[in-house]
Amino acid sequence: DRPGCSRRTSTDHLVGARDPGYFITFEGGDGSGKSTQFSLARDYLTRRGWDVIASREPGGCPIAEKIRDFVLDADVEGMTAECEALLYAAARAQHVREVIRPAVAAGKLMLCDRFLDSSIAFQAYGRELTEPAVRQINALAVDKLSPDLTLLYLLDAKTARERVLRGGAPDRIEREGDAFVGRVRRGYEALAQREPDRFVLIDAARSIEEIFPDTARALSGLIDRGS
Ligand code: TMP
Repeated sequence: DRPGCSRRTSTDHLVGARDPGYFITFEGGDGSGKSTQFSLARDYLTRRGWDVIASREPGGCPIAEKIRDFVLDADVEGMTAECEALLYAAARAQHVREVIRPAVAAGKLMLCDRFLDSSIAFQAYGRELTEPAVRQINALAVDKLSPDLTLLYLLDAKTARERVLRGGAPDRIEREGDAFVGRVRRGYEALAQREPDRFVLIDAARSIEEIFPDTARALSGLIDRGS
């Protein structure tokens, strides 16, 4: 059978405590291997009978995918940090309303490759906009939606760069240097420190097979607790 998230006790949403589904995000610097773990997680949870919806940011629906093409285009030059932050938030506003909210409200297991934490790490820390500014820009986009669980894949800048270069031509964000990558990482670490219950930190400097048990354990920790 495919129990979906209805395995959670029914009183949870009778009291209006929260949505019936789960919202789980995957975060990390470029080259951290997060997207590979994301695909494996989607297949693993589907095999276990969960009703999984998998999406990504920027993107996840046609309008947001168009914004993605533009914001990552390596030929686009001179984009200000403010413009960049607003474009990521615009894509998110569409994605939250068209995909994420409906999925969580319908009791699905919503997996997203990146969400708001990416904007804090990349635009607030990486681009050095202030965190309050980036949060303010995103307040309308996320409309108080927050992940139940965030898996954060951490990797040193040198290994990350090697992996990005192996992946082909770098996009507009990936071509930033090690100082930017270092600031992004510090941003993620600060976020994780502030919300230790939401974040699970995963050492990404290992093989795919070595990392996946940690991914699976983190997911089971949330969904088996609620079932
Ligand atoms: P991806 O390569 O994981 O698909 O992510 C696309 C790029 O966009 C990646 O370099 C991180 C960046 N990004 C931001 O800078 N801010 C954001 O809010 C999001 C969602 C992604």
